[in-house]
Amino acid sequence: MWDFFETVRLRHSIRKYQPDMEVEEEKLNAILEAACTAPSAGDLQAYHISVVRNPRIRQALSDAAPGQQFIATAPVALVFSADPVRSAEQFGERGANIYALQDTTIAAAYAQLAVAAAGLASVWVGEFDEQGIRDALGLDADQIPLSILCIGYAAEVGGLSPHRRLDDIVTWL
Ligand SMILES: Cc1cc2nc3c(=O)[nH]c(=O)nc-3n(C[C@H](O)[C@H](O)[C@H](O)COP(=O)(O)O)c2cc1C
Repeated sequence: MWDFFETVRLRHSIRKYQPDMEVEEEKLNAILEAACTAPSAGDLQAYHISVVRNPRIRQALSDAAPGQQFIATAPVALVFSADPVRSAEQFGERGANIYALQDTTIAAAYAQLAVAAAGLASVWVGEFDEQGIRDALGLDADQIPLSILCIGYAAEVGGLSPHRRLDDIVTWL
């Protein structure tokens, strides 16, 4: 088990997974619980999470993301979809256009860190055909799939990405 800062520092994307190593249900539940503790506007949690283990559906997700066959080979894919209608009920246009997307993204980020803390590997996938993902998952037309988190045990050694320098990003006032 890593501590929080170690988890954040050492997490990196992995796109090859051990084919015969399932993700334990207990870990999956802990990851989902962590995702759902993320802050959200008005505590509305304006998102839905699809847990995809079925190989046929994983292939359908992969088909909606050309060139990203690893989606089909990951034992689990978590798909985070925004629910703008839920946020709009309280926050109107800002809820639909901004808060629902933020709620969803934060939850997915929490999940990705929980994946790392649980000793698993992942990659965040954002490039896909939205309607293709909706069709694969049977989502409503108003739900917006934002990220696919592919999860499994690593079968490659990844490296840490060279992040931008802090002073290139941060202004102290
Ligand atoms: C919004 C977003 C979209 C991304 N889309 C993809 C993608 O479609 N395919 C992919 O292989 N990686 C994707 N990534 C992963 C990034 O390439 C990766 O996080 C980045 O290169 C930094 O590497 P690291 O995760 O190892 O730190 C995405 C990440 C984010 C946050």
